[in-house]
Amino acid sequence: MDNPGKFYITTPIYYVNARPHIGHTYTTVVCDTIARRQRMMGIDTFFLTGTDEHGQKIERSAAAAGCSPKEFADKVSGEFRELWDRMKITYDDFIRTTEPRHMRGVQALFTRLQERGYIYKGSYSGQYCVFDELYVDAVGPGAPCPECGRPTETVHEENYFFKLSAMQEPLLAFYAEHPEFIRPETRRNEVIAFVRSGLRDLSVSRTSFKWGIPVPGDPKHVIYVWLDALANYMTALGYGSDDPRDQQKLARYWPADVHMIGKEIVRFHCVYWPAFLLAAELPLPRSIIAHGWLLFEESKMSKSRGNIVRSETILDTLGQDALRYFLLREIVFGQDGSFSFDALVGRFNADLANDLGNLSSRTLSMISRYFEGEIPYTSPAARTEADQAIEKLAAQTIADFHAQFEAFAFSRALETAWSLVSAVNKYIVENEPWAVAERGDKDSKARLATILRTSVEALRIVTALVHPVIPEATARIWSQLGLGDIQKMDLRQLAWGQIPSGTKLGKVEPVFPRADKSMIERMQQMEQQRSTEGEKKTESEPAAAGAEAGQRATEAVASGQPGAPPIPGAGMVGTSSSAPSPTPSQSHRVGEKITIDDFLKVELRVGQVKVAEKVKGADKLLRMEVDLGTETRQIVAGIAKAYEPEKLIGRKVVIVANLQPRKLRGLESNGMIVAASVGDGDLPVLAGFLEDVPVGAKLK
Ligand code: MSP
Repeated sequence: MDNPGKFYITTPIYYVNARPHIGHTYTTVVCDTIARRQRMMGIDTFFLTGTDEHGQKIERSAAAAGCSPKEFADKVSGEFRELWDRMKITYDDFIRTTEPRHMRGVQALFTRLQERGYIYKGSYSGQYCVFDELYVDAVGPGAPCPECGRPTETVHEENYFFKLSAMQEPLLAFYAEHPEFIRPETRRNEVIAFVRSGLRDLSVSRTSFKWGIPVPGDPKHVIYVWLDALANYMTALGYGSDDPRDQQKLARYWPADVHMIGKEIVRFHCVYWPAFLLAAELPLPRSIIAHGWLLFEESKMSKSRGNIVRSETILDTLGQDALRYFLLREIVFGQDGSFSFDALVGRFNADLANDLGNLSSRTLSMISRYFEGEIPYTSPAARTEADQAIEKLAAQTIADFHAQFEAFAFSRALETAWSLVSAVNKYIVENEPWAVAERGDKDSKARLATILRTSVEALRIVTALVHPVIPEATARIWSQLGLGDIQKMDLRQLAWGQIPSGTKLGKVEPVFPRADKSMIERMQQMEQQRSTEGEKKTESEPAAAGAEAGQRATEAVASGQPGAPPIPGAGMVGTSSSAPSPTPSQSHRVGEKITIDDFLKVELRVGQVKVAEKVKGADKLLRMEVDLGTETRQIVAGIAKAYEPEKLIGRKVVIVANLQPRKLRGLESNGMIVAASVGDGDLPVLAGFLEDVPVGAKLK
């Protein structure tokens, strides 16, 4: 397909089981910046983002939140979209995998693979990681997922299989012919090593849950969520549609130029996706670029670690440009990088408020004051070495910035632009235009004109270059420069000396008000409030409230169970004492420290599930008989939406053994099961051990 002058870039489609945070914002901002620059370079650009809404993980999160998967997906997908709109992300389309256009396209791709003989029916017996939606080879029941460490689940199913094994050689040949396909180099090497080590056929359908796209002609199967998700990159352009406009769009923009992803989903994009496309005889994307992780407090942000930062806090305080600039300047693209409010405010003050903000306000206000707001005429003959040095540096900056940006070295590109800003600020200080203005003679006026014209030219160049990174502030500087709409500027033509004499400046106003130290505290408080509100919100959701759902993490801790440890994201599922629960203010507050004696009051023991069954008329409850070594207990727990009873039999669990019994649906419950509370739906995930532990063992 030959379609010159176009550029198609995609973000991953984000799962709707977690609300957007600045990790997602990072990828989206990187893509938005690239897309904006491509458009300024005169390239017909298509930028796609969206949400990934099918699969077992989403089905369970929805169940835990007490709503249908579609209602759940609508809510969170809406939050992603609202955030991108608030940030003025320039996406051209937002695809949801629950849309008919996508479902039709995925079925068309599945059929195409079937017709070409790459799909057959077989049966899968092995481990599956629901969190990563990944089939895990060569580990036994209960073993941890090699990707995320969470316990895997055993799956025995009749499935459709994709002949991935047949794609090993074609893939290796493709990687060899297209060294640009996977970047950076380290990821490419990892992928090649993985494929060389041998590929097994991939199960591409599931029967044990419903929330997915039915296999054409065999609707008891739903299509594997990664085959479903990856296809979005083509279905959004119209793959699978008969409408000629869709077909034209697909022909125009496919193959994608850049699939931008985080490093944890390299295998799906660099092995499975090209394998599906090779088998389907469809063109492959030109490149897959994997970036590193944004860390907060030294670990990857995730709700279960409780270390999430939301973009909204930063948008409400410093604004979107501050966040965008920080992400692109502070994180070395491709590597992991840390986020902190201190560093954010530090960068904002130093680079934006001081360096660029000062250059802009002092240059423009002096032109207003000394030349009545008009760009003065200057004679090229009267230029000093210092003036010429700035011109030379500006020309070099343009060339270097473009080269670095195109190599995805955003941080270096911004450093380059800021070297010009610093050089001009220094030039202004050294040439003292305010003192030259004092002199008042004709030569001095001409000198003043040259100094300010030199400064304003450099300001114009930096503004144009960094517009894709900080679009709002640069648009304002551009209109203060009297140059109108920055979006109309053609970046390919950018060169020294293009601002016409006599250009009338717009209203000159400061662009970046400085942030004082209290801003850091304010942001931290806002974050804390947001997470508490988030907790409250989930607590009031139907499935979470009431005895039937079982006592969940935060409730068990907050309701004053004697000595329940305040472990963030961990909690108890089951039933508690029949004693009335004191309100949080009467007892222990989340986050408050307890003594070791308090903790020792809780008897935690390893139990093994012997019997598990649904409780009639209560779709969230399971009745279990749990062997504690010395006795067998009946425990009723609100985990039915997350666990099928048959799969629990034989499983070792952690029990709070010394709770007073209570009755639920007429059944006596004698203890509580410990579980993490995961995702926005507070999905219970049972605690377990990687090593074998004897039944009855005490935890301390
Ligand atoms: N739904 C899949 C992707 C399917 S694409 C066909 C998925 N979704 S996700 O919601 O987990 O999003 C993962 C992506 O979000 C990462 O690959 C990355 O682009 C972005 N990030 C999420 N957290 C991040 C960080 N903490 N740091 C950097 N990027 C992060 O995987």
